[in-house]
Amino acid sequence: MSPSAVRPAPGGDFNVVFIGAGNIMFGSDEGPWNHSIRFEKKLGSRLKIVALVDPSIERAAAVLQKKRSEEAVASAYDRTPIYPNIDDFIQKIRPEQSPHAIVIGCPPAYRGSDEPGRDLELKLLKHFPGVALFVEKPVATGAVIKSFAVANSINEASPVCSVGYMLRYLAAVQKMKQIITENNLIVMATTARYGCAYESIAKYNWWNKDIDCGPIVEQGTHFCDLSRYFGGDVDVPSVVAHSVEHYEAPGKLSKIPIDESKIAPEQRIPRATTATWKYKNGAVGMLLHAVALQDTNYSCEFEVYCDGYQMRLIDPYNNPTLYVRRPGSNLEEVQAFPQDDPFYSEVSNFIDVIENGPEASTILSSFEDACKSYEFSWAIRKASEASRKVPA
Ligand SMILES: NC(=O)c1ccc[n+]([C@@H]2O[C@H](COP(=O)([O-])OP(=O)(O)OC[C@H]3O[C@@H](n4cnc5c(N)ncnc54)[C@H](O)[C@@H]3O)[C@@H](O)[C@H]2O)c1
Repeated sequence: MSPSAVRPAPGGDFNVVFIGAGNIMFGSDEGPWNHSIRFEKKLGSRLKIVALVDPSIERAAAVLQKKRSEEAVASAYDRTPIYPNIDDFIQKIRPEQSPHAIVIGCPPAYRGSDEPGRDLELKLLKHFPGVALFVEKPVATGAVIKSFAVANSINEASPVCSVGYMLRYLAAVQKMKQIITENNLIVMATTARYGCAYESIAKYNWWNKDIDCGPIVEQGTHFCDLSRYFGGDVDVPSVVAHSVEHYEAPGKLSKIPIDESKIAPEQRIPRATTATWKYKNGAVGMLLHAVALQDTNYSCEFEVYCDGYQMRLIDPYNNPTLYVRRPGSNLEEVQAFPQDDPFYSEVSNFIDVIENGPEASTILSSFEDACKSYEFSWAIRKASEASRKVPA
């Protein structure tokens, strides 16, 4: 924690600013993400949301109204003002609103850069020096090099900073890490398969590469990051990728929940992307991301191979289960983690580090490391675009 940051008094109010009043903050049918309920669970009556920043005042007012109607959590939101942008909050802030943490859950197009309108982190570092930042993935939508410049500024200011790659916090993932450490293993290969349920993704921006940058940068980034968490840094020029595009027969989808005809053909997203790469230490990795499934549940699997070992993480979103095959056996041990909530663990660790310092807990995704996952996801997108056959 930076020296200028003020730690909340033990047992006292814990002031949080939420930037963004959307799905990641307040939940949706899309998935289990919902930061507000994890902050409520962690901090109980200590939680005070001292500002909600969102240009969509109506949406912000609606989520606040709902929270205020829930007796158990109303006290966190009773006096939460809404601001249309961060500048407005900075101008009007009162001393009692001074935040202990700022949670950034607005679209990445507004952050991760030094360009006006995309320079949210830099503004926060200037006006709230030392205040802890929780930043959602991906770290940006703009130039990769600019995101690394923001990482440098964050490193220099050294606030507590955590990026929302929550899969790292899964108990199953930590178990895999433990097996690797305890047995002095070197990862030989990773394979990642991410099948999203596209029928429930009713966000126009998500289907438009020009806005959300496409499914690898926006969503597959979780498995790009998990791959890096096990394989280490990627040799970025080694990335090879292919895609199934919307104009190809295998890319026809029957249940797209938005009107895709409103998106320029060249900005429509690929339906499936495959990629392979080398890690810098010589290991190899591969990814399949598919926009293919319907209904609501995603189908995701992640595997790690080491000498004598295979570790398979199945269904990390809904029912994380780990299958481990060890030397001297053809059988797999199975361990399920049905109650595990990585979204809670990442929030819990973040708050423990703010309150009690880095010895108290661990933040598993730094801004700089998240920039590497961002860079890697762009390398996959660019390689797949370079290899596709565009219709004449
Ligand atoms: N870790 C995860 O599993 C996970 C899950 C969902 C979303 N996310 C990430 O969270 C971020 C937000 O996604 P979402 O699903 O909540 O989107 P969303 O569209 O549901 O909500 C975004 C909200 O941000 C508001 N907004 C727009 N511009 C803003 C600005 N300049 N300042 C403040 N607010 C602004 C919008 O009005 C909207 O209310 C994205 O980066 C996304 O990738 C992460």
